[in-house]
Amino acid sequence: MKTTKLKKKIVKKVFDKVHDKYDFMNDIMSLGSHRLWKKEFIKIINPKPSEIIIDMASGTGDISKLISNKYSNQNILRMDPNYLMLKKGSNNFKKNEKIVEICASAENIPLKDNLVDTYAISFGIRNAYDTQKALEEAFRITKKGGKFICLEFFKINRPILKELYKIYSNTIPTIGEIIVGDRKPYEYLTSSIEKFYTQDEFKNMLEKSKFKNVNYINLMAGVVSIHTAWKI
Ligand SMILES: C[S@@+](CC[C@H](N)C(=O)[O-])C[C@H]1O[C@@H](n2cnc3c(N)ncnc32)[C@H](O)[C@@H]1O
Repeated sequence: MKTTKLKKKIVKKVFDKVHDKYDFMNDIMSLGSHRLWKKEFIKIINPKPSEIIIDMASGTGDISKLISNKYSNQNILRMDPNYLMLKKGSNNFKKNEKIVEICASAENIPLKDNLVDTYAISFGIRNAYDTQKALEEAFRITKKGGKFICLEFFKINRPILKELYKIYSNTIPTIGEIIVGDRKPYEYLTSSIEKFYTQDEFKNMLEKSKFKNVNYINLMAGVVSIHTAWKI
């Protein structure tokens, strides 16, 4: 089986398994920090009421929730290939007609070119089965003058913190086993962080996809980073 197909299958299985306890586990695994990171992410997105935003890899919809809390009238496209994850978050948006759900993946977006003002992806790009293709699709659907913003786990740049983080992340599969009853999805999640690109490699990939003014900031010494880029 080709590696992209295999990854697609593994990732689907992981999120099918964890969807029900996803939000709870997110709080446990990040010790609540994901809420602070996401707040910072929204500040950088800086949504404007007239804009169309895509919340790619939306999962249970944390990012859409934070944006619509700011502007209840915001046009948001919640996209995710995992139907169970998408549906788990649906209840939060039932009364909001401005939020549209689409079950599709980042590599094959069923939208026309130059549509969105902001392409936002939070803890999703690492799961794409073809990162470069996903970035090219992001570029295609973003309007000229629009921005790309990505929140993701990356590589820690301080040796002691790196070791401490390693010890902590080794405990995550055990926590998953206790709470969800299966350690495998959490082994995938921790190993996918190790296998993913460095901040600079990802920056280069964005440039290769024709984005300009690509930059990133590290939060917590690079545990997570926020990349920003523009379609000019
Ligand atoms: C860790 S969750 C992130 C959810 C949410 N954005 C957040 O920040 O809490 C990752 C999401 O990526 C989705 N995903 C997996 N493969 C994907 C792909 N190829 N394209 C887009 N999203 C994908 C999963 O289904 C899952 O919902």
